[in-house]
Parts: sequence; structure tokens; C-alpha cells
Amino acid sequence: MNKFYVTTPIYYVNDEPHIGHAYATILADVISRYHRLFGDDVYFLTGTDEHGQKLQEAARKHNRQPQEFCDQMVQRFKRAWKELDIRNDDFIRTTEARHVAVVQKILQAIFEKGEIYASDYEGWYCVFEERFWTEKDLVDGKCPDCHRPVNKITEKNYFFRMSRYQDWLVKYIQDNPEFIQPDFRRNEIMGFLKQPLGDLCISRPKSRLSWGIELPFDKDYVCYVWFDALINYISAIGYLSEEQKFKRWWPAVHLIGKDILTTHAVYWPCMLQAIGIEQPRTIFAHGWWLSGDTKMSKSLGNVIKPLELAAKYGVDAFRYFLIRDMTLGQDSSYSEESFVNRYNSDLANDLGNLLSRVVKLIESSTAGLVPKPGTSDNSDTELTGRANALLRSIKSKIETYKLNAAVEDILELVRATNRYVELNRPWDLAQNDPGSRLGTVLFNAAESLRLVALLLTPFMPSKCLEIQKQIGVVDDKAAANHFGWGGLKPGTKIQPGEALFPRVQKAQINVTLTADVKGTGMGQDEPQGVVTFEEFGKVEMKVAKVTAAEKVAGADKLLKLQIDLGGEMRQIVAGVAQFYAPEDLLGKTLIVVTNLKPAKIRGIDSNGMLLAAQAAGKLVLLSTDKDIDPGARIS
Ligand code: MSP
Repeated sequence: MNKFYVTTPIYYVNDEPHIGHAYATILADVISRYHRLFGDDVYFLTGTDEHGQKLQEAARKHNRQPQEFCDQMVQRFKRAWKELDIRNDDFIRTTEARHVAVVQKILQAIFEKGEIYASDYEGWYCVFEERFWTEKDLVDGKCPDCHRPVNKITEKNYFFRMSRYQDWLVKYIQDNPEFIQPDFRRNEIMGFLKQPLGDLCISRPKSRLSWGIELPFDKDYVCYVWFDALINYISAIGYLSEEQKFKRWWPAVHLIGKDILTTHAVYWPCMLQAIGIEQPRTIFAHGWWLSGDTKMSKSLGNVIKPLELAAKYGVDAFRYFLIRDMTLGQDSSYSEESFVNRYNSDLANDLGNLLSRVVKLIESSTAGLVPKPGTSDNSDTELTGRANALLRSIKSKIETYKLNAAVEDILELVRATNRYVELNRPWDLAQNDPGSRLGTVLFNAAESLRLVALLLTPFMPSKCLEIQKQIGVVDDKAAANHFGWGGLKPGTKIQPGEALFPRVQKAQINVTLTADVKGTGMGQDEPQGVVTFEEFGKVEMKVAKVTAAEKVAGADKLLKLQIDLGGEMRQIVAGVAQFYAPEDLLGKTLIVVTNLKPAKIRGIDSNGMLLAAQAAGKLVLLSTDKDIDPGARIS
């Protein structure tokens, strides 16, 4: 049995999970599910990166201690991966004791080996941003972020002797073509390594940044966040704590985005070489999802939220689209329209149709039982030949990270089966020749669907289960998982069900995902006083938990509330003070409209609106019927 250890980057915990995070995690999930299908022994790791300046600042902004803040924020990632059907074997957080201990032991060991030394670090410090810039970062001699003047500061820091490893690394990359992939990324790193490699500053004085792992040899310093974060890949699998487990899984395949290639393909190999650990098997850098042609960014407001898409079109369709529409390594442009086109053509038309017509035909012409195959002709040989070729080629496609090509090959079998059904016209055979030829055609079409469901399971786990249910193999795992033509048994009872992928109408696009629906003409023909389902869908409502409440000075009716939306903290000013005292609301679960334009009420920021019922001078706030996590969407 081959072993396969795959990792995603660990995500900055203060970010909201976006399409980039979802992509990398779904990619690792799909690849690891395939390896399981091929019989490999698989370990899939993901997690969160929780130290550093940005986290410390974000926690301060939310009036939270950093650890408490991380504990809250990490839930958003855990929840997102659960919703997206991610089957990771472990989730590592860099604030966990198991990780901190390994980072400190490594630091101590390589310090003692002379791989780390103290030296003065000179740079330009921006007091307002509390960070260093190098000479070339400055814009007109000022801080590139806030444009304030900067001071030249010299401070003691610790450095990792990375420069020592330059020649070794160049040779290692040349000798191991699988190490950095795709090829053009390897060339990029080779280009980078033509310049002299400096030593790496791996410390930050606590006077500037206290949120990090303390250096074991100098308690006035914490470890640089990247040096800490990269070690997650070995701390999670038991390096220096469970040696057997570590030996079992290492080396890893690291799936990363192109922007973090240097840290993974230069810093990390040098660190591993200094520690004395074998190199990762592969570092594979994928491209970026762009919004149209532009990079997604919070300030442009074009960040795609994966859970919203999954809620609108289904988790499986979302997973399918992300993998189908990106050639691994390249950038890809996201638009909801391209998603819907892909959904309608591949899933609704090709796959969904094939399932419903085959199941209907078996139901109406062979009493709901998969028939025995009878006489065959060229069209059968062609179909089975195609299926067998797919079974032979899919493994190497997955192992060489050609995932979109693998999906396309599977969809080709779906289309070929649709053509096969058209050509053989089983509806006519049922009338004119209900004997052996009908049996062959329906058996082959159903068997092809069984294989398609097996091979698409890593992309669409629950939809494929539904296909297996409808063709009657869901409880017969041996038949469902048979990796070859002919796993379906004649006589199997089919179970017709709902349409697998109902077609999406173009008018449904963009309604809930972008604010601007003006000019779409929607709703114009509706009777007065009603809203369409789509219009209603524009209002985003979530369950919130009140974490703090106080009166607004000088305003009898207003309370200022801090609410938790499942890790996202907001402030709301609500006109409920005549009905509720602040302490009545503390810890309460309420319903909040979360996409209302933020407003200032009496000069205080209010971001959201509580839902309440009012009658006869009374007001009561709406809550939920049973306990549910904050952040849950109302629909
Ligand atoms: N914490 C570091 C990684 C440390 S790994 C030891 C980090 N975190 S991140 O949250 O900012 O980014 C995680 C990943 O998301 C990166 O691989 C990045 O490339 C990926 N993406 C961010 N935006 C993306 C897109 N728009 N499209 C695809 N992936 C992108 O970096």
C-alpha cells in the first residue's frame, strides 16, 4: 500500500474563509479521496496560522486577548470545512501546545548547532503601523501603508544561516524534478536562486510583538511567524513526539498557492536541511482565482464567499466547478455566470439527464430491475472500450495533478453514454424488440453510470451517493466500488429519485451574491406587495450571540451591543432600551440582518439590525427555537 501525506497551507485565522482557502482545501480533499479510492494509505492535514502582528492587531481591535480571539475565529474555518464536506485527518493550530513544543525544540537544537546567530538588524520603522520596512519598500521615503515618516532603527535580532544552503538547494532542485511543480514554478525558483540568498531574520523583539512562540534561548524575543508556521507540517504528524507516526507519514506533498512559493520552496527546504529531515516529496503551487481579470481583495469588495455559493448551488456543484474550471497551476477567472454555464452543461444536461433517462427507462421497460445483457454490437464495444481506457488513465492523471483533465475524461464517458443511448433508442427497442438487445443497452448505460459515480465521488461525494442510490448499488459496496467494467449485477432494483441537478435559470445569477441587481428587470411583472424568492434572498440574516451590552449615554431608547456571528464580531446600536436592560441581553441568541448598509446612530457605528416583533406598545426580540451556533444563516 502506498502512503500519501498531503497538506494545505495553514490559513491566517483572522481572515474570513474565501474562495482561495476553499479551493486549496477542496483540492487537497479531492486528491486525498482519490488516493483512498486507489487503495493508498492517506493522511490529509489542514489548519490555521495563528501568530504574528496582524493577528495581534486584529485581536486588539476587537478588544480580545489574542488566544481568545483565535479560539473564536478558528471556528469559521472548521465550520466551513465541515459544510464543504472536507475529510481532513487532522487540523493543526499553531497555538496548540503540541506545535509550540516542537518549534521550540527545533529552535534550540539548531541554535546549539550554530545555525542561528544574533546580529543587528537595520531597517525603517513606522511607529504608527508598528512595523519595519526595508529601504526599497519605502514610497518617497515614507511608510508605504500610511505614508507617515519612518525612523531608521537598529535592533538586535536572530538570524537563521539560510545562505549556507544555497548551493545545496540549487543542486537538490536540479536533481529532483518532481520537487517543485509545475515546471514553470521550478524555473521561477531557480531564477530567484541566481541572486545571493541572505540569512533569514527569525525573531521579533517582544517589545514590538508579543504574540508568538518565545525563543527558547532568549525570552525577550518571539519567533518569526513563517518560521513557526512551516513547522506545522511536521509537528502535526508527531515529529519529536511520536516518531513512529512521523516516520509513517513524512515526506509530504504540499499544495500551496503561487504567492507562498518562496517560503515553501526556499525557506522550508533550508530549514529541513538544517534540522536534518528529508525534503518534502512535492511542493505544488496552484494559481489564483481572479474575479473577472482582477485579483480579489476586501477593499475592491469582490471577494467570493464559498459558503454562500455552496448554499445557493449545492456543495457538490461548487466543488466540481472549482476543480473543473482551473487548470492546476494556472490562474482562473471566476464569474457566477461561468459557474452556472458549467453547472447547466455538465451537471444538469449531461450527467443529470443521463441518470434520469436511464432510471426511467429501466423502470418503465424492465420492471425497475437492471436487465441481463444480451447480444452486443460495435456500439457496446466502443462504450466499454472507452470506460476501460478511462479506468486505466485516471490514476496517472490524478497523480500528475491533471485534475481538470481527469474530470473532463469522466464527463466524456457521460456524453458518450448519452450518445450510445440516443443511437440505440431503447424506447424503440422496448416496443419492438424487448428481448436481449434492450437488456444490453440498459445494462451498459446503467453500468457506465455506476462507474461515473465511483470516479466522481472524490469531487461530489453526496451527489454520487445519490446516483448509487438511484441505480440500486448504494448498499452493495462491493458492486458500487468495483474498479472495473461489470460491477453492476443484473436484477438490481433501481430506486428513481429527484432530479440530481435541476437546471439553474440565468435570472437566478448574482441575486444573492452581489448587491447590484438594478437593471436586471427582475420582479417587474410581479403583483404589487409581494417579493420574489430571489428578492427575499437578498436579505442576509444570521443567528447572533450578544457578548456585551451597554446603554448609550444621553439616549433613552438605545443600547449598544457587541454581537458574535460565529467568529465575526459586530457592533449594533438598537432601539430596544425601553424594553430590555443591557444585562437581559447578555449571552442571548438573536436574529440579525447582517447585510444592511452600516450606519452611524448618535455618532456610533451600527452594523446590522436586530429583528423584533411589536404590538400594543410591546417589543420582543426574535430568537431561535432551539440552540444553534452563532453565525448560522436564516433562510
Ligand atoms: N498563513 C499563510 C500560509 C502558511 S503555510 C505554512 C498564508 N495564509 S493565507 O490564508 O493568506 O493564504 C492561504 C492560501 O490561500 C495561499 O496558498 C494563497 O495562495 C491562497 N489564496 C488566497 N487567495 C487566493 C485566490 N484568490 N485564489 C486561490 N488561492 C488563493 O498565506
